[in-house]
Amino acid sequence: MDLFSQSPLSIEAAAKRIEDLIQEIAEHDYLYYVLAQPRISDSEYDRLIAELRALEERFPELRRPDSPTQRVGGGITKEFPTVAHKRPMLSLDNAYSPAELYEFEQRMRRLLPSTQWDYIAQLKIDGVAIRLQYENGIFVQGATRGDGQQGDDITSNLRTVRGIPLRLRGSFPAELEVRGEVLMYRVDFLRLNREREEVGEAPFMNPRNATAGSLKLQDSTEVAKRRLRFFAYFAEGEGLPDADHEVMARLQEWGFPIVHTAGPYRLPQVEEYITLWERERRSLPYDIDGVVVKVNSRALREALGNTNKAPRWAIAYKYQPEQAITVLVDITYQVGRTGFITPVAELKPVKLAGTTVKRASLYNYDEIERLDLHLPDVVVVEKSGEIIPKVVRALPEQRPKDAKPVFPPQVCPECSTPLQQRAGEVGRYCPNYRHCPPQVIGRLEHFVSRKAMNIQSLGEKILRRLYQKGLVKTFSDLYSLKSEDLKSIEGFAEKMPTKIVQNIHASKETPYERVLYALGIRHVGEAVAYKVAEAFPSIDSLMEASEEDIAGIPTIGPTIARSIKAYFDDPENRVEVEKLREIGLQMARRHREVKPLANLPLSGKKVLVTGTFPGVSREEIIQYIKENGGEYVSGVSRNLDFLVVGEAAGPTKLEKAQKLGIPQITLQELEALVGVPITPKESES
Ligand code: IVH
Repeated sequence: MDLFSQSPLSIEAAAKRIEDLIQEIAEHDYLYYVLAQPRISDSEYDRLIAELRALEERFPELRRPDSPTQRVGGGITKEFPTVAHKRPMLSLDNAYSPAELYEFEQRMRRLLPSTQWDYIAQLKIDGVAIRLQYENGIFVQGATRGDGQQGDDITSNLRTVRGIPLRLRGSFPAELEVRGEVLMYRVDFLRLNREREEVGEAPFMNPRNATAGSLKLQDSTEVAKRRLRFFAYFAEGEGLPDADHEVMARLQEWGFPIVHTAGPYRLPQVEEYITLWERERRSLPYDIDGVVVKVNSRALREALGNTNKAPRWAIAYKYQPEQAITVLVDITYQVGRTGFITPVAELKPVKLAGTTVKRASLYNYDEIERLDLHLPDVVVVEKSGEIIPKVVRALPEQRPKDAKPVFPPQVCPECSTPLQQRAGEVGRYCPNYRHCPPQVIGRLEHFVSRKAMNIQSLGEKILRRLYQKGLVKTFSDLYSLKSEDLKSIEGFAEKMPTKIVQNIHASKETPYERVLYALGIRHVGEAVAYKVAEAFPSIDSLMEASEEDIAGIPTIGPTIARSIKAYFDDPENRVEVEKLREIGLQMARRHREVKPLANLPLSGKKVLVTGTFPGVSREEIIQYIKENGGEYVSGVSRNLDFLVVGEAAGPTKLEKAQKLGIPQITLQELEALVGVPITPKESES
């Protein structure tokens, strides 16, 4: 059946198609997340989602909570309701050596003297434990561990986590509880921190913190962007097999990605598994902190029972975090683009996890106080999340007698301005926004960066020299640069200065939303700038807007609104905006040329229109397609994603599209795909 055919679709037919699509998409999720063997391309997958979304827009009454379209999030939760766990979510006892592993076995042997058993071994993921509830195969509730007895109901946030099936495959118990770990891959963590630093937000310390922070976000749309993942390690429900390794296999069949599991094993094999992963752990895309060893039989688990804190039948073999001892020689302070001061530990070089470490982050001054650091001090450094080395503690017993406590800097290390603290924020910042060199240069760097004005060949080094020579201080100064100015800087290839000046002038065509991003307003990243530009299509309307007006934009919070308002309240910023306007930068949306962001409804889609449409001109439809990220193409080809068919459409195009299997949709279906209707210019209503 073809949804995109023009014939009117009965609700029964739509319901059937929705059911089929949900099944089909669940199957592809399974192939991708569980088996890591996708059978279709991303764009084919997107097409299925788009078709489903279009149907749900057209028949909202058929929209279901287990639909994969719900993964993008949507709801804002002011406060997460507390939910009690049917079975407490226990923690695990730890073992740090093979001897302690054998003691664990001995303890159980004393309780069950004449019994034999096997173990399974699983990687212990360093993430956040959650519990998921399924009723008749549908995901109905998800909660955090909390204090072990009760946690937060974070269902809407968990719905966005890739890998958590919204409905199960195959046959399953009517009531099923699944537990597992939510985590973030290291690459996604690094990307997130880069984005945060770009907009002047404090980076997360490690992927685990980033995961925990993400799950607590009130806006599930934001959670959806964090690329969280899930691995299951536990299931409880009617009729499950006794052997846990079989339960793990069931979990996979139902569609859960599972933690890496091995066994059934005896202890010597468990030991081998532990040694293997201690060596190989860095080849995983995520962090583990050990191996969990569990008795394989559920009946024996029952027999062994729990202490009040942890099960007797399982133990966490913890790897030694990779640590080293060295001397803290000095603490220096870095000033970021938004003025935040980050203390950096300068260390006597030491080998740690295969690299030589000379510096470690101390995040903010509170950390220095917490660790009670003195200079010099003997300190323990660790690779946290195995990415950034950090100082975990000082060894006061080894501290030299004349060591001095460290006091927070009172003035900026770069410009000597007294530092300030913002209410409710840790750390200090330099308020000398306008003149503090690293802030000025950092701002210029941001302005010219690829996602902002995209002025190529104008890197940090050149900007620094231009600044030092007094040639450039503000954005507008860039536009009066001459190639002679650049020639006065050494080490240029011959044609480079002319080229850079050309690039600077070409940047005047950069669309308004990117100009807005380029200004470097705190908390205004690329996506926020885009949303703000949509709501306030000119900088004049934005400058006149009140804080409440700005906070009224969906998903824009009060912090962002306050920051934007404060930016435009500063008369010097207004003067700069006026200068940029006179230079010719785009200070309003030019509808025909809006550069699409990757996540618009029609991003990456090639669309063609044929026939006529009462009340709407062809041009308006084309403009609408472009505004929503689509590309308008001139003919039917294999690459076409949709053919929008109107009245009296030419038969050649229709036939060709039919032959190539290209979806043909009505204008209403296109509008449903996009999610907002076309507003014809001459409409009288
Ligand atoms: S089993 C009753 N298996 O470690 C059994 N836990 O210290 C409880 N964890 O809160 C957990 N990977 O967050 C289990 N393969 C795994 C695990 C795992 C990570 C975490 C989990 C738990 C903590 C216990």
